[in-house]
Amino acid sequence: MPSDATPRPTSTPTRFAVLGTGHWARTTHGRALAGHPDVEFAGFWGRDADRARAAAAEFRAGSWSGEEGLTDLLGRVDAVTLALPPDVQADLAVRAADAGVHVLLDKPVATDLAAADRLAEAVQRGGVSSVEFLTYLFMPEITDWLAQMAALAAEHGPWEGGVFRWAGSIDTPGNPYAGSRWRRERGGLWDTGPHALSIVRSLFGEVVAVAAARGPRDAVGVALEHRDGAGTTLSLTLTAPEGTGGSFATVWGPGGRHDLPRFTGTPPEGFARAVDRLRAAAATGVPDALDVRNGRDAVAVLAAVEAHLRRPDGTTPVRPVQR
Ligand SMILES: NC(=O)c1ccc[n+]([C@@H]2O[C@H](COP(=O)([O-])OP(=O)(O)OC[C@H]3O[C@@H](n4cnc5c(N)ncnc54)[C@H](OP(=O)(O)O)[C@@H]3O)[C@@H](O)[C@H]2O)c1
Repeated sequence: MPSDATPRPTSTPTRFAVLGTGHWARTTHGRALAGHPDVEFAGFWGRDADRARAAAAEFRAGSWSGEEGLTDLLGRVDAVTLALPPDVQADLAVRAADAGVHVLLDKPVATDLAAADRLAEAVQRGGVSSVEFLTYLFMPEITDWLAQMAALAAEHGPWEGGVFRWAGSIDTPGNPYAGSRWRRERGGLWDTGPHALSIVRSLFGEVVAVAAARGPRDAVGVALEHRDGAGTTLSLTLTAPEGTGGSFATVWGPGGRHDLPRFTGTPPEGFARAVDRLRAAAATGVPDALDVRNGRDAVAVLAAVEAHLRRPDGTTPVRPVQR
C-alpha cells in the first residue's frame, strides 16, 4: 500500500458528473447530485450515447460518451462519481485521478487486488481525494449504533463475535439488477460482501485470515479471524429465493448481545452525505476514513475469500454416515 498522502488541500469541488447511465447511476448518483445545493451537476458519461442522453434528459443535464467524450468531460469537472461495474470503475477512476479529478467510488472499489492497488496509487499520485459510498455507513441510525457499540466495547471489552447475513434477490421479477453482468459473474461475495464488511470492519477491525464454503448458486459462507482475536461469520448471496432476501447482523461480547438496526433514509440522502465528505476531504487535504485505501483493504478480504474457495483442498469432506 502507498504511504499516507501528504495533505494537499484543493478548492472545494463543485462541478460533478456521473460515469455510468444505469439504474443506480440515475436513481441514486444523479438524483443526489441534481438535488445537492452546493453542486453543479454537469451530467452523465456512458459508453452508449443514446443511454447517456436519456439519463441526462431526466435531469436536464449534459451527456458525454465514448473515449473522446470522457477526456472532454474530465477536463470540465472537479469530481466524478462512478456507478459502473467495479472492474470498469477501477480503470476509469485511475483515468480521473490522473486527470486531477476527485473520485466518489461505489462498492467494491475493484474486483481484484491488483486493480484496487493501482487505483489507490493513482489517487495518491494525482493528489485527489476519494470516498467509497458504503450505504450503511452514510445512514445516521447505523453510524449512531456503531458509536454506541464502540462506547460499550470501550467500557466492557472488545466484541467477541458476530453473524452477518446479507442477501439480495436479483431474480425477483422487476429487480433492476437482474441483467447486471458483473453481479452474475462475481455473485453476492462481491456485491453484498462489501456491505457486510463495512459493518464487520467497523466493529471488529482488521481481518487477518479467512475460510469459506459454497452454498446454492452464488451463496457463500465465510469465517473471518480478526487481529484482536474475534471471530465473525458472513452469509452472502444475491440470489436468495423470492421473499427470503434481506440483511441482519448480531454481535456479542462482554457488552451484551446487539442487533444491527434498520435505517430509514434513502440512498440519495446517503449519497449526498458522501458528496459532502468528498468535498470536505478535498478542501482540507485530509483523507476520508472511507477513502480508496479503506476500499482496497475490503477488496483484500474478498479476494482472500475467493482464493480460499478456489483451493482444491478448501473444504474438508465429511465421512458419510454408515447405517
Ligand atoms: N450501495 C448500494 O446499495 C448499491 C446499489 C446498487 C448498485 N451499487 C453499485 O453501483 C455500481 C454500479 O452498479 P450497477 O448495478 O449499476 O451495475 P450494472 O447494472 O452491472 O452496470 C451499470 C452500467 O455500467 C455500464 N457498463 C457496463 N460495462 C461497461 C463498460 N465496459 N464501459 C462503460 N460502461 C459499462 C452499463 O451501461 P450500458 O450497458 O448501458 O452501456 C450499465 O448500465 C456497482 O459498484 C454497484 O455495487 C451500489
